[in-house]
Amino acid sequence: MAVAIMRARQQCQEAGFDVSTSCRVATAVSELARNIVKYAGQGEIILLRVSAPRGAGIEIRAQDQGPGITDIEKAMEDRYSTGRTLGLGLPGVRRLMDDFDIKTEPGAGTRVTIRKWL
Ligand SMILES: Nc1ncnc2c1ncn2[C@@H]1O[C@H](COP(=O)(O)OP(=O)(O)OP(=O)(O)O)[C@@H](O)[C@H]1O
Ligand SMILES: [Mg+2]
Repeated sequence: MAVAIMRARQQCQEAGFDVSTSCRVATAVSELARNIVKYAGQGEIILLRVSAPRGAGIEIRAQDQGPGITDIEKAMEDRYSTGRTLGLGLPGVRRLMDDFDIKTEPGAGTRVTIRKWL
């Protein structure tokens, strides 16, 4: 997971993001990685360069086959945590990124897809 955070920062800088944006993206990856370790035990983080009519960017998919999230609306609220921590991870990730999408199914797992555009 530490590797994913480092790679995210590296790939961002290679893609042309400034240092502070690269750090924001790395912070988002770090929150998603922490959630995977804490709630699912294991999973994967995929980093991709993407392009669209609006320009180029970076996409990150954090996915696991853990327990999933039963109340996604609550999970996206500030200060909601089933793990007795701050509960700022997912809403923070959404604020740090341009695009945020979460798909989860109780018992089957969770996939968070985030993007930052240049
Ligand atoms: N990958 C995941 N699998 C299952 N549940 C998850 C996953 N990620 C988040 N959750 C659920 O969503 C809730 C909110 O996640 P969020 O990252 O916002 O807060 P947290 O991890 O509890 O606290 P913090 O990130 O501030 O330490 C978690 O408490 C947990 O119930
Ligand atoms: Mg968290």
